[in-house]
Amino acid sequence: MLLMTEKKTNPDMLMKKHLSDTVALALAGVTTSHGWTLKKAVQSGIDNPDSSIGVYAGDPESYTAFATLFDPIIKEYHRYDMSGHKSDFSLAGLPVENLDPEGRYVISTRVRVGRNFQKYAFPSAISAEDRAAMEAEIVEALKGLPGTLQGEYYPLDGMSEENRQKMIADHFLFKQGDRFLESAGVNRDWPKNRGIFFSLDKRFLVWVSEEDSMRIISMQPGADIAEVFTRLATALDFINQKVQFAFDPVRGYYTTCPTNLGTAMRASVHIRIPKFSASPDFEHTCKELGLSIRGIHGEHSESADGVYDISNKRRLGITEREIYSQLYQGVKKLIELEKSLE
Ligand code: ADP
Ligand code: ARG
Repeated sequence: MLLMTEKKTNPDMLMKKHLSDTVALALAGVTTSHGWTLKKAVQSGIDNPDSSIGVYAGDPESYTAFATLFDPIIKEYHRYDMSGHKSDFSLAGLPVENLDPEGRYVISTRVRVGRNFQKYAFPSAISAEDRAAMEAEIVEALKGLPGTLQGEYYPLDGMSEENRQKMIADHFLFKQGDRFLESAGVNRDWPKNRGIFFSLDKRFLVWVSEEDSMRIISMQPGADIAEVFTRLATALDFINQKVQFAFDPVRGYYTTCPTNLGTAMRASVHIRIPKFSASPDFEHTCKELGLSIRGIHGEHSESADGVYDISNKRRLGITEREIYSQLYQGVKKLIELEKSLE
């Protein structure tokens, strides 16, 4: 299958589709309080003609200031009617048993959410000064996490290259932003005031100032999706009391990229399905199940040995509980299909 590594022009880029001359004219003079403009919002799509979306926001205000461009993109990407964001982290009544207790298919499970501050610009637009202040606030907020969630913060600046590469290869740490994020301004002042917090067992992690100000992550080997999900929910209950996140009743949690709005949740497994993934039905089946396919080193990477990163496509117009269910049922189906070909 083709993953998006080469720079082909995407005729269906949502920015191009929705940026009519009328919209461009109406938004031409608009600047948010953190200095985000139409030019900055669309720069990534212009520089990267293979983009699927092609826009980024600079701050919470971008979503209202540039709503005539952003809202149609949001509606189309998430298939969302703007009727209001609903959150539900409960798993009551849902199946929670491990789908692959022998570990034949599912290598690991990860659930993350993106979060940004109400008072700061997003990593695309934040000043060096605010980035430093925000980092200090995040480190402070993560102090006192309960039980096994407790951990330490490790700034990127000053981390040994060997350690950094190992943590990336082991799927814990983020890389410098790709060309899409570079054009959106996210890599400015790299690697200053970026870093990673993790618990002793590396099952709870927080990325600081990657694409979003915070990426809050729960992950572990194996297929216990319920345990991974519940750990994240517990951590969020705690962090929500400490930080005022940027949130909108219609668009949910505000994120740098419109694809992450709403729950801002991506729940994924690394799953080994060499037979089914080689079949012509693979992409279509995942699409029907509401699942996206990524390579094993994350977005825009390739797969290896029939192992894929499978996750929910929608993040808005869906609750966290529904995302859990979608991944759970999807993984169940993919394992059945792989077994039927063995
Ligand atoms: P996100 O947008 O969710 O942060 P990326 O695609 O950028 O995701 O991936 C970030 C890192 O997380 C990569 O190293 C990727 O391989 C890793 N990752 C994603 N899902 C899983 C998983 N289920 N198990 C282990 N690592 C994962
Ligand atoms: N801007 C890129 C595009 O439009 C990536 C979009 C989704 N990925 C992300 N990391 N936000 O194709």
